[in-house]
Parts: sequence; structure tokens; C-alpha cells
Amino acid sequence: MTANISSQGVFSGAGTCASQLTIRHPDDWHLHLRDGEAMACVLPATAKQFRRAIVMPNLKPPVTTVEMAHAYRDRIVAALPAGMQFEPLMTLYLTDATTAEEIYKAAESPFVQGVKLYPAGATTNSQAGVSTLARCTAALAALEKTGLPLLVHGEVTDAHVDVFDREAFFIDEVMVPVRRDFPGLRVVFEHITTRQAAQYVTHESRLGSDGRPNLAATITPQHLLFNRNALFKGGLQPHWYCLPVLKREEHRKALLQAATSGLSQFFLGTDSAPHARHLKEMACGCAGCYSAPVAMELYAQAFELAGALDRLEGFASLHGPAFYGLPLNEGSITLEKREWTVPAELPFADGKTIVPFLGGETLPWKLVD
Ligand code: NCD
Ligand code: ZN
Ligand code: ZN
Repeated sequence: MTANISSQGVFSGAGTCASQLTIRHPDDWHLHLRDGEAMACVLPATAKQFRRAIVMPNLKPPVTTVEMAHAYRDRIVAALPAGMQFEPLMTLYLTDATTAEEIYKAAESPFVQGVKLYPAGATTNSQAGVSTLARCTAALAALEKTGLPLLVHGEVTDAHVDVFDREAFFIDEVMVPVRRDFPGLRVVFEHITTRQAAQYVTHESRLGSDGRPNLAATITPQHLLFNRNALFKGGLQPHWYCLPVLKREEHRKALLQAATSGLSQFFLGTDSAPHARHLKEMACGCAGCYSAPVAMELYAQAFELAGALDRLEGFASLHGPAFYGLPLNEGSITLEKREWTVPAELPFADGKTIVPFLGGETLPWKLVD
């Protein structure tokens, strides 16, 4: 199915006339669902927009084994409201102690789709992350052999590296050497935020013998639409704080160019990362934007900005399944050009509330229910 933009006379800035956009049902290739009551609160927002999602394993304790991923998957499926169709695709959390056997088990299981590398200390719940990849050679060799992708939070955590340079340093210090040492490794550079990462993935991705790219990247809606000024607009803005942190405008432009390029190694991953309002609006606020309730709306806005609405379907619905070797979804979603206001806050676990990304703001696109 190709993107079907019906022209009904609403002028968009990019010069296309579009008031409705229908695309094949999309997936989210990078999502945090949490667990328990919090998960039950946020799951419907994703299931409303996406058919499948790659579910991140950074729970407390992290999801480190196939058995734990199986149990987590069962809890997600049990929390899904009746009548909603949604398939969680599971991941394992790589640690210094992950064995090759566990990777082989994961590759054989029908529901584990990747293994996630969190450099220790890089982000939310990464205390158990990898100290140095030198400790993971057996697991990496098993990933290379099985073709199960390594999903990477690509930031170095050395105190002497500037926080805005962490991703660019990661390319030279980790990504290049690991892909040289394990040339058959399939890698997703998650939530890329810089021109350097966009260029690296554009130029270094190769098609494997199966016709699939061996290197891909997910891009979040906030990194396509905002630069780091948003963090400080009128005061400190905790709901714009995520990791990797928003970067300069030149990087946002490079990401938008990559996402709308039509290249199959770039696909949708919201990195929707829910944290209760009081844990964001505090002296040491948590990193993560809860974008699930506004995800496709924001991607449509970004693609329209680039004059590339006809490429949204590839990014949202075609490139991800091709990389992971999964079938395309059946059915479609429709977005319409209609202003609406995002709720300022929503109910969350333990009687608390959560602020959705862009809560209280008016958006130009709306998913048709
Ligand atoms: C994520 C989270 O809260 O789990 N936070 C974030 O800012 N992106 C972790 C992550 O994806 O790095
Ligand atoms: Zn991350
Ligand atoms: Zn994430």
C-alpha cells in the first residue's frame, strides 16, 4: 500500500494539499511500557496507534532472561483492554553476565526480537548495564551468529565527555570497533539525536545476504520537531528532558532529513518513556518523554514540515518490519488535519498523574479513532 493523501484543499506549509492521510498500520520500534499499574495506564495509548512495539527491558530488576521476557510479555497481554489488537515484541537486557546460551535461547524463542545494550549509568535503570563490551564477547558472537539484532543506547558515560557529545563519541569509541570485530552483527542505533549518527547510519549500513540492512536507526518525534532550546524556553522544562538529550538545530535538521529520506535503515521508534508527573517535576527529574498519546500526530507534523508526507508510511510501517524480518501489518490508520488540544495530564499509577508530551498544546494532526 502506498500513502494515500486525499486532497481536500487544506494548505500545508510544504506546498502539498492534504487534509487526510491513510497509511498501513504502523509499529513502534522503541517503547517503554513499564510494569504493573503504570503499564496498564499507558498501554492503551500505544495499542490505539500501533499494532506492534519493541518493548524495552529496563525494568527494575531488568529483563535479562528469556524466561523473564516471557513472563513480562504475558503481563502485557493480560493488561491489554478487551478488543484491542497489539503484539508486544520482547527484548533482553544485556549485562556483563549474559551468556551465549541465553542469546541462543532468545534467538530460538518466537517472541524475543532483540538484545538491548545500555552502557552502565547512561540512562533510566541502566545501573545493571554493560561496564565494557570487552566483557560481552561471547554474547556478541552469539548475536552475530544468530542474526538477532543488538539494540543500542548509543552514549558514552565518561564524566569528561560533554553531555551533548556523548552520542558522537559513542560512534568512534564503541560502534565502529564493535561492528569491525563482529562484522555480521545486526545493529539498531536507537533514538539517534545527532547529524553524526544520521550520517553514520546513512553511509555504513549494508544489505546482508538476506537483503536486509545490517545497521538501522530509530528516531523519536521530539528529536524531529525540537532542538535543545525547548529545554530552557521561559525556564527549565522537565517534560522536554529525555536521553539522549535534545541537540542543536543543525542536528534536528539532519534527523528530519534522514527520517524523510526514504532510506529503509531509518524507522519509527517513539522512545515513549513514562514517568509520573512528580518524578519529572522535581529537583532531580527523570529522563523520558511520554509521547505515546501523540506519537503518530507528531510524526505527521514533522513529515509535513519536510514536505514528505508521502514517505511517512515507509518510515512508520514498512522499514521496521523489513529490518526485523516480520510481516507487514494488515489494515490502516487515518490521520486528519484537525486541530486538537493534548490533555494537560492523565491518570497514572498509585493515584498519581502523568503529563503527556506536549500536554496542553494544540496539534495540527489527529489520529482518527
Ligand atoms: C528512557 C526511560 O525512561 O526508560 N528514558 C529516556 O529519556 N529515553 C530510557 C532510554 O531510552 O534511554
Ligand atoms: Zn535509551
Ligand atoms: Zn528508550
